[in-house]
Amino acid sequence: MGGSHQEFIRRKGSDTMSSLNIALLGFGTVGKGVYHSIDSHQKRLQEIFQKEVKIVAILVKNLQKHNIPRKDIILTDNFEEILSIQDLDIVVDAIVGTEPGFTYLQKSLKRGCSVVTANKEMFSKHGKELLNLAGQNNVSIGYEATVAGGIPIIQTIRQLLQVNRIEKVEGILNGTSNFILTSMRKNKGTFEQNLIQAQKNGYAEADPTNDIEGFDAYYKGVILSELVYGEKPETTQADCRGISEITSEMIEEADRLDLKFKHIVTISKSDQQINCTVELALVTTEHPFYQVEGVQNAVSINTDLVGNVTLNGPGAGMFPTASAILEDIIQLDRKVAVSPCTRIVEPDYNTKTKWVLFYQGKSINLPSDTSLFHSPTSKIVIVETDDVSGIKELNPSINFFRLKGDYILSKEKVIV
Ligand SMILES: NC(=O)c1ccc[n+]([C@@H]2O[C@H](COP(=O)([O-])OP(=O)(O)OC[C@H]3O[C@@H](n4cnc5c(N)ncnc54)[C@H](OP(=O)(O)O)[C@@H]3O)[C@@H](O)[C@H]2O)c1
Repeated sequence: MGGSHQEFIRRKGSDTMSSLNIALLGFGTVGKGVYHSIDSHQKRLQEIFQKEVKIVAILVKNLQKHNIPRKDIILTDNFEEILSIQDLDIVVDAIVGTEPGFTYLQKSLKRGCSVVTANKEMFSKHGKELLNLAGQNNVSIGYEATVAGGIPIIQTIRQLLQVNRIEKVEGILNGTSNFILTSMRKNKGTFEQNLIQAQKNGYAEADPTNDIEGFDAYYKGVILSELVYGEKPETTQADCRGISEITSEMIEEADRLDLKFKHIVTISKSDQQINCTVELALVTTEHPFYQVEGVQNAVSINTDLVGNVTLNGPGAGMFPTASAILEDIIQLDRKVAVSPCTRIVEPDYNTKTKWVLFYQGKSINLPSDTSLFHSPTSKIVIVETDDVSGIKELNPSINFFRLKGDYILSKEKVIV
């Protein structure tokens, strides 16, 4: 998608009295955030675009629920009415679910409108098709708001990919599950009690499955995989490991060893395939995610030149998400083409994966030479092995979690 920002402004009409016309699909948390942010930042937007930035229409499902104070804005439940608006420049998608969003965005692109979407479920399934369709119609798509809310992760990765090769991306991409894990550690209580608290605070849906089973995080992992490696991962939603198996005892035992549970998405490429794992892992104080608490999100990008870059911030919410959408609107025509990273990361044969095992009963059976650390008082063993399945077979009731970050065993922790 070529063209400079100035060309974009010119294409949208050199008449300074004209406006940049936006239709908003959805008027819930995100839609309202975009509406109010365009209002509150109109002066700055006018400086950038040299014209007024206007919401000209809003699509909702249930007309009765809504009362838009501005009478010059079309409020409709009929998408065809949106499509028939003359001089429509941009369609912002802030509705839920794969359909009808996918169909609406296809129609918008074919009509020659650029699109900005926050709809991660839809974009993780159809992002590539929509990007191709945008290219064919000489328009653009922004999707910053689909991953990690207000954190500018898509722009950062695009920027890094221009020169760097990306070896791995890790993320805490679901604020609800991070809130539950943090709250279980700080305020105690069971998983269920803390889930109810998350619902009371408005962080978790009435049906929390997508968040706690890792599906929401997986959708975001797929979007990052397509951006970084050009393809969807081989691993599927069924491979996700959620957070519901966690107990308050495990949290307490880990805490005693200065370890924290985090629900982490990892995207990497081996010679076999692209992997997107979603799993509960334990992080050490050395890991960049150790301090990421509550509903915060974080993304850590490992690259060959710059090394490790970590960003953290609000992963959702009315105004952080609106910020990502406005950034996209401004960037729509500035996108520099980037190539996906084709580099395959060579496995480091000298470093095996470290696992934290929680066992019940009196003892645990381990193959020789795997154990790094054993704490009989807390029933935790840290082992180093690439294949934990043998240990699982010998000890069917153990829980095992990957350990991330350098682990410094202090004298008082080591029990030989
Ligand atoms: N909330 C966040 O912090 C956040 C962050 C990042 C991304 N997102 C994504 O942004 C999107 C919107 O999230 P949200 O939290 O704003 O959702 P929401 O509060 O539930 O609002 C959804 C809006 O979409 C409208 N809608 C739903 N189905 C529709 C249909 N078939 N036709 C027309 N309108 C329809 C609803 O209309 P009615 O009001 O008439 O029911 C409502 O206004 C979702 O895809 C979500 O995954 C959300």
